[in-house]
Amino acid sequence: MRDKVVGILGGGQLGRMLAASASLLNVKVVILDVGESAPAKQVIAPISPTLAHVDGSFADPQKIRELADKVDVLTVEIEHVDVGALEAVQNVPRPTPLAIHPSPATVHTIQDKFRQKEHLASRGCPISDFLPVEPNEESIRTAAQQLGLPLMLKSRTLAYDGRGNFVVREIPQIPEAISFLSKRPLYAEKWVPFIKEVAVMVVRTVDGEVQSYPAVETVHKNNICHLVFAPLRSRDATLPRRAREVAEAAVKTFTGAGVFGVEMFLVEDGSLYINEIAPRPHNSGHYTIEACETSQYENHLRAILNLPLGSTALKVPSAVMLNLIGHSSSMDEIDAIVNVALAVPGASVHLYGKSECRKGRKMGHITVVADSDAQLRTRLRPLLESLPSSTPEEIDRYAPPPPAPGSGFSDPQPLVGVIMGSDSDLPVMLPAARILDRFHIPYELTIVSAHRTPDRLVEYARSAAARGLRAVIAGAGGAAHLPGMVASMTALPVIGVPVKGSTLDGVDSLHSIVQMPRGIPVATVAINNGMNAGLLAVRILAAGTPSLVTAMEEYLKELESDVMGKVKTLEEVGWEKYEVKRT
Ligand SMILES: Nc1ncnc2c1ncn2[C@@H]1O[C@H](COP(=O)(O)OP(=O)(O)OP(=O)(O)O)[C@@H](O)[C@H]1O
Ligand SMILES: [Mg+2]
Repeated sequence: MRDKVVGILGGGQLGRMLAASASLLNVKVVILDVGESAPAKQVIAPISPTLAHVDGSFADPQKIRELADKVDVLTVEIEHVDVGALEAVQNVPRPTPLAIHPSPATVHTIQDKFRQKEHLASRGCPISDFLPVEPNEESIRTAAQQLGLPLMLKSRTLAYDGRGNFVVREIPQIPEAISFLSKRPLYAEKWVPFIKEVAVMVVRTVDGEVQSYPAVETVHKNNICHLVFAPLRSRDATLPRRAREVAEAAVKTFTGAGVFGVEMFLVEDGSLYINEIAPRPHNSGHYTIEACETSQYENHLRAILNLPLGSTALKVPSAVMLNLIGHSSSMDEIDAIVNVALAVPGASVHLYGKSECRKGRKMGHITVVADSDAQLRTRLRPLLESLPSSTPEEIDRYAPPPPAPGSGFSDPQPLVGVIMGSDSDLPVMLPAARILDRFHIPYELTIVSAHRTPDRLVEYARSAAARGLRAVIAGAGGAAHLPGMVASMTALPVIGVPVKGSTLDGVDSLHSIVQMPRGIPVATVAINNGMNAGLLAVRILAAGTPSLVTAMEEYLKELESDVMGKVKTLEEVGWEKYEVKRT
């Protein structure tokens, strides 16, 4: 299988990353693109004179034939290719048949965004309303009357990085829209008031089996993908799964193997709409190189070569991808941020080797991986700060600084939730917070009452894992239902702190928490011992974080030397003069 030669139509950054991945598997690759130094051609030398890269356009039928003659499998890094030429080469008789992935029919449907929408609508995939329009004022005005304003006008073909889009906010803007979109074939989409953009990469085998990568959040700036956060965090625990289901179902409606990028909109009521699908590796899947067990590029190659697919699972807790977009014709700004990135732990720099830098051109990207979302944001912050186009609001929004330890405010990316049934429990829970501060573990602290705020309790517990929490400490007095109810609604470990009340000395609460029925365990610490709850949370997190094991060992050594100091003092001064210090 690995003796097969793969031909890629297009030699940009996606082709470059595909080629780099192919070299690891020793898969031979021939690239079709203009010139000798397209980004993809730079990373993979021609294997032999007969397998030399092809110099020409991926839209030129003659050059597509030339490439097809050299290879066993054709694939694309861009959908704007000549489909007629693909179909023609597929029908040329040859000793071994030529495989084309994705299929020319899929490329044909997807490369015209209007045709793509018709396809998705007819297969029952969720999309917003859309209409065909002619590039004239009357037609667009009629569409605006039907779909409302703002209206998203899009080029049907050859659009990328939002360059084929125009948002018509007022009717008088229509002539400007027509001239901006240069009388290209157009269609109109209903404006989607999304609260988040979500994407899922899906890989499809030759036999039509699909596997999806984790859902991610994408952030666009000036219509260009700016940031991708993996995994998608949400208060709605069902969202990541639903996004994968929508994406998988959509990809199943197409033919041919390979990866597909599915871009979606999330709206306020939790519904998802598909924005568009790319039949190839996608910008929102760059993060998979460092963050997943198999990258989108390797899985694309495995799929088109009919090899077993690799796992799509995340192998790090948190990742972000930042696109390096040209700011001007100079590379100076990009070089500056790369220099910063080289000093950031967990950051991997990818530069595409494009011949010229231009405003709005994708010149590279940086992926950062981290042990937690909070660590990720701390690592991302200096990168955003060194981007000349970042505003202070954007920096604080996407990479908020952690609150100072002891400031009394929750971290926006907590790993531990410290909750209590009543504000009167605060003095008991504060030692837990102090311990988490000491071990630099991001946490949130709030009041959730099982009896007085039951809806809040359900929302809190159900969303805890999807928001990125890894453990919950719950303190409650009296009948103390909080820890048990939280444990029943999350798979995370829950530590209960019995709080001493005024009548039964906390024994009531201790029994309520410790006597959980089989199947729903709550780790229970001693009455009023918030400190031990904090320490137990650190130990739970340490199970997956070696640096925390070391920190906990140091803490235990400190406890030991503290006691050894007391042994020495007791020997020196004798117990009659020894002063007991209460902490
Ligand atoms: N109907 C819509 N309602 C609201 N916003 C939209 C709509 N369609 C597109 N957008 C916004 O414009 C961005 C770019 O749109 P689209 O994906 O259609 O363009 P593109 O040129 O294919 O971009 P890319 O190459 O980055 O995928 C979207 O990510 C979204 O932010
Ligand atoms: Mg898009």
